[in-house]
Amino acid sequence: MSKGSASQLALLGGTPVRSSEKSWPAWPMYDEGEKRALLDVLESRSWFYGERVAQFEKDFAAFQDARFGISCNSGTSAIEIALEALSIGEGDEVIVPPYTFVATASAVMRVGATPVFVDVDKSWCMDPNLVEAAITRRTRAIMPVHFGGRVCDVDRLRSIAHAHGIALIEDACHSWGAKWEGKGTGALGLCGVFSFQQSKNITAGEGGIILTDNEHFARLCRSISNCGRVEGAPWYHHVNVGTNARMSEFHAALLSAQLARLEAQTIRREQNAALLNSELSEIEGLLPQPSSNRITRRAYHLYCLRIDEEKFGCSREQFLAAAQAEGMPISSGYPLPLYQQPVFKKIKHHDYDQYHLPVVEDLCFKSGMWMIHSVLLAEEEDMRDIVRIVAKIKENAAALKP
Ligand SMILES: Cc1ncc(COP(=O)(O)O)c(C=O)c1O
Repeated sequence: MSKGSASQLALLGGTPVRSSEKSWPAWPMYDEGEKRALLDVLESRSWFYGERVAQFEKDFAAFQDARFGISCNSGTSAIEIALEALSIGEGDEVIVPPYTFVATASAVMRVGATPVFVDVDKSWCMDPNLVEAAITRRTRAIMPVHFGGRVCDVDRLRSIAHAHGIALIEDACHSWGAKWEGKGTGALGLCGVFSFQQSKNITAGEGGIILTDNEHFARLCRSISNCGRVEGAPWYHHVNVGTNARMSEFHAALLSAQLARLEAQTIRREQNAALLNSELSEIEGLLPQPSSNRITRRAYHLYCLRIDEEKFGCSREQFLAAAQAEGMPISSGYPLPLYQQPVFKKIKHHDYDQYHLPVVEDLCFKSGMWMIHSVLLAEEEDMRDIVRIVAKIKENAAALKP
């Protein structure tokens, strides 16, 4: 094989599958719609929590098939408020997965409660088979994550929650547009929380929302998120211990403009992911995140892949270096199971050193990889480049061995 040839890996001096002129879609996306919406708010001089926020809440809740939406200034504050509305605090436990962004667990600690970790399974979501064993008399809620936009086994988790009289809170921060048996995520249990932070599939830089079908719960979340105020009462009348987690009109205007694109973008991501799923699962040693026939729409916040280094022929780190050199924007995901993050060493009343959960540790240390959702907004030909890159690495895996 001559140096610089197309069949030699770019990492070893060959020609990359994608030249540097070929870029991936930039994120976040905006057009005249966002510009006009922001300027409208600016010129209206109504920048504060008003009709645009109310409209976005209504539209987003309807988009996810929920009755009520309570906007917040982040996904983190949305989780904290949902927990507070359930009076979850000191002495209580909430079951969470260990493969997620820190906020899933840290929001639990911020309200004074204890996150208890249950491993994920091959779906990258909480393993329902392990949940019962983690339930104690202190457990108040189960909070699974629809990881990467792949809806977790809602039926099993809902029935476990129901049997124990505890709440199911969806951390739906990756799952805008996703559906379980035809119904949007967010109100499949008591409530769900979403994030609109910059990396998310619909964004205003920051932002969040709580969705629920329960009117009483919705009113409580609204009150807590807005300084303890209650509907219809005078402005300086405060009934609950609240916080200020309000969204501004600028955020709502941006989000409404983004929401107009969400349906089409969700469909496109799903189509491109379907192509990758079918082509990449043919390659021995690579495992796309599996689906379920009860998931009637996947959101694809991340395109997740596991590598089996024995079967594929090289290690994850070798694969990533080779793939990046060929122009494939893939990385290794979370570096640690959450329970190994330093913050948990500070907790004295629960021993986080006890956890040795095999699937999450395999994902973090050996097999887990992901691409961000905007890659899936590229053209079909770009997906074929990804397939070509992976096939090229597979063919040349032996050359990567030290
Ligand atoms: C699964 C998950 N939960 C919660 C959050 C917190 O959302 P935010 O960053 O809006 O506070 C995130 C954000 O990255 C997340 O990915």
